[in-house]
Amino acid sequence: MQKLRVLIDKETIRKRVTGLADEIRADYAGRHPILVGVLKGSFVFMADLIRELNMPMEIDFIGLSSYGSGTESSGQVEIVGRLRCPIEGRDVLVVEDIADTGTSLSFLLDYLRKRNPSSLKVCALFNKPSRRKVPLTVDYLGFDIPDRFVVGYGLDFNEKYRYLPDLCVLEEESQGEP
Ligand code: PRP
Repeated sequence: MQKLRVLIDKETIRKRVTGLADEIRADYAGRHPILVGVLKGSFVFMADLIRELNMPMEIDFIGLSSYGSGTESSGQVEIVGRLRCPIEGRDVLVVEDIADTGTSLSFLLDYLRKRNPSSLKVCALFNKPSRRKVPLTVDYLGFDIPDRFVVGYGLDFNEKYRYLPDLCVLEEESQGEP
């Protein structure tokens, strides 16, 4: 049996998203960036972040997949949905739900860099520093979290739980003594 334990509640997430939006708005004042959300996980964060930002910008999404249907990354990142906006000469801010091993973001940054944006930065709401395998700079970071499998606020386990408003740890419930 699996059970869910709240790790970061929705109000704490909301306040941090507001704080990140304040930082980003100040840094990008007058620059009309393109925010690139990494699907699927970032869609909830993106939706909240852009409304807190409330400034001129464009939005695009790119689909990446590395986890397949388990709790461990396969290490193979695939692009499963492409950008529609040209990014050459543009200020690009990647919006990601979580940086774990860093494999997905590192792959994506290489992919985007080849398309010659005038700047390229990363905003990640959650980060597991203890899991990092690939060095990565996160320019705007919401929360460092421990090495637990988390779901909710856009993050899934086998496509379940993305709808949860809080970030929750998915735990195996002990069966107790027979
Ligand atoms: C998750 C998450 C990140 C990535 C982070 O995506 O959204 O993109 O894993 O892990 P990494 O740092 O170890 O690469 P996932 O592949 O589960 O796809 P999803 O966003 O569609 O759920």
